[in-house]
Formats: sequence, C-alpha cells, structure tokens
Amino acid sequence: MVKSLQDTVTLHNGVKMPWFGLGVYKVNEGEEVIQAVKSAIKAGYRSIDTAAYYKNEEGVGIAIKESGIPREELFITTKVWNDDQGYDSTLKAFDDSLNRLGLDYLDLYLIHWPVSGKYRETWKALERLYKDGRVRAIGVCNFHVHHLEDLLQSAEIKPMVNQVEFHPRLTQEELRKYCKEQNIQFEAWSPLMRGGLLDNETLAEIAEKYNKTIAQVILRWDLQHEVVTIPKSTKEHRIIENASIFDFELSQEDMEKIDSLNKNERIGPDPDTF
Ligand SMILES: NC(=O)c1ccc[n+]([C@@H]2O[C@H](COP(=O)([O-])OP(=O)(O)OC[C@H]3O[C@@H](n4cnc5c(N)ncnc54)[C@H](OP(=O)(O)O)[C@@H]3O)[C@@H](O)[C@H]2O)c1
Repeated sequence: MVKSLQDTVTLHNGVKMPWFGLGVYKVNEGEEVIQAVKSAIKAGYRSIDTAAYYKNEEGVGIAIKESGIPREELFITTKVWNDDQGYDSTLKAFDDSLNRLGLDYLDLYLIHWPVSGKYRETWKALERLYKDGRVRAIGVCNFHVHHLEDLLQSAEIKPMVNQVEFHPRLTQEELRKYCKEQNIQFEAWSPLMRGGLLDNETLAEIAEKYNKTIAQVILRWDLQHEVVTIPKSTKEHRIIENASIFDFELSQEDMEKIDSLNKNERIGPDPDTF
C-alpha cells in the first residue's frame, strides 16, 4: 500500500510516477499558480499536473525553478489541447509547452481529449517524442474503453496512463478493470468532484470515524483503489490537508460504502459527446 506522499507506481515502461500530485486547472497564471505549486512542493508533493489549455505553464515552470528541488525529483505532466491535435501540430504544441515551462524534457505528455479522426495521428506524434527521449512517458485522458481499443489497433506504444474523471459519484468500474488488464495506469481528475461531495452524509460519517476530513477520505479511497490522484487547491492549508492521508486505512466495508455512492454522474463532459 502507498505509504507516503512520495511513493510511486511503476508505469509499464518502468518509469516511476507519484501516486499523488497537485492539479492546477483553473489556477490563474502568475502569482496564484506559482504560490500553489511552491506550497505543494514545500509540503512534499513531487507531481504537478498542468495542460496547455490551463494557460499557467509559465507559472508552473517558475515555481519549479524557485522550489530548489532538483528537476529529476519532480514529475511534470502537461497535455496537448484539442485544437493542436494532428501530427505536426502536436509536435509544435509540445515544443511550445516545454518552452513555457522552461524545461528540457517532460515526465508525462497526455492527449487531453479523444478528438475523433485526429487522436491516432496525435498519438503517433507522442510516440515520436517518446522515442526521441523528450518525454519519459506518454498517455491519454478521457478515453473510454472503445477509444483505447481503437487506438491500440494502430499504436506502436501502449499508453502508460489514462487520466479520467473519477470520484465516488463516477467510479468507472469497467474502464478501471480494462486499464488494469492492459497495464495502463488509471489516474483520477476532479477526484473531489470539485467540492461537490464535501457535504455528503455517508462520507461525513466515515470521515468522523477516522477523524479525517471528507476530502482526505475520498483521496485515501483513490489510493486504496490503486488510482493516481491529483486534487487541486490554491490554499496552502488544503494542499497540506489533502496530502495528509498516509496515517490511516479505510476498511474494506468503508471502501464498499464509498463505492456504493456511484451514480455514473459526471461534472465534466462525456468524452463521447464533448
Ligand atoms: N484531463 C482532463 O480532462 C482534466 C479535467 C479536469 C481536471 N483535470 C486535472 O485534475 C485536477 C483536479 O481536478 P479539478 O481541479 O477539476 O477538481 P478537484 O480537485 O476535484 O476539486 C478542486 C476544488 O475543490 C476545492 N478543494 C480542494 N481541496 C479541498 C479541501 N480539502 N476541502 C475543501 N475544498 C477543497 C478547491 O478549492 P480551492 O482551490 O479554493 O481550495 C477546488 O474548488 C485539475 O486541477 C487538473 O489538473 C484534468
């Protein structure tokens, strides 16, 4: 079981990825993102999840430099946005992201959404970047089973990660099972359902029992399901709170209680209709 904030999962290509990280969607470029990332690194986080679409890569890069932590101890993820999908445009988007971040390699580059008719070509560009040693791992986001099956028909390299919406209202059982069988690491976005679950009664009861907050219970549930998780916060006290989940373990019964909250309910778009 995951024992500390710096514990990692080994992806199918041997690269180690932290189980826990900071997401920075909707964090403003400039001071806000710089402070959030610096607070997280100071608290022991080693993984940061951004995207070209979030328009805060420059701030993420500044925070990385100012953190004083050696680059190789950090795990930095960014994503190619939908408008840039296609072979040449993805290669260019990668260079642009890397420049904004001020880095000379990435740890993980992801396809942000499965843009139909385009993602196979986009994937070829990611394979190129991977083979050229410019990124240590490549993956996708928001791929249903059918998208993955389709991609695998033409892919030379299997995605190492699939990052999708996952929380107690959307437990994605079929997709998780498929990813596990395929050795594709499952990663949760909006693990806290953007705050939508923080007044749930079942979760409140469980939280009280372990003397933890609801956010901590949900994030611990992620880890016990072997799901990589990247909650977002700009508040230092919450950044610390969210990562204080390595001193308790949910019982099997409580894991199942949380599983049973599933309603297949999304707060983001369905990848088939977005
Ligand atoms: N690949 C994709 O398509 C995709 C899509 C969406 C998100 N993501 C990634 O996943 C990350 C996480 O998802 P998300 O940002 O959508 O949502 P989230 O992490 O589920 O929730 C973030 C919200 O919860 C609040 N919050 C955080 N910790 C809290 C706590 N302990 N107590 C109370 N409220 C708390 C935050 O507010 P404060 O900031 O005010 O604390 C923020 O409003 C993103 O930042 C992004 O990196 C990826």
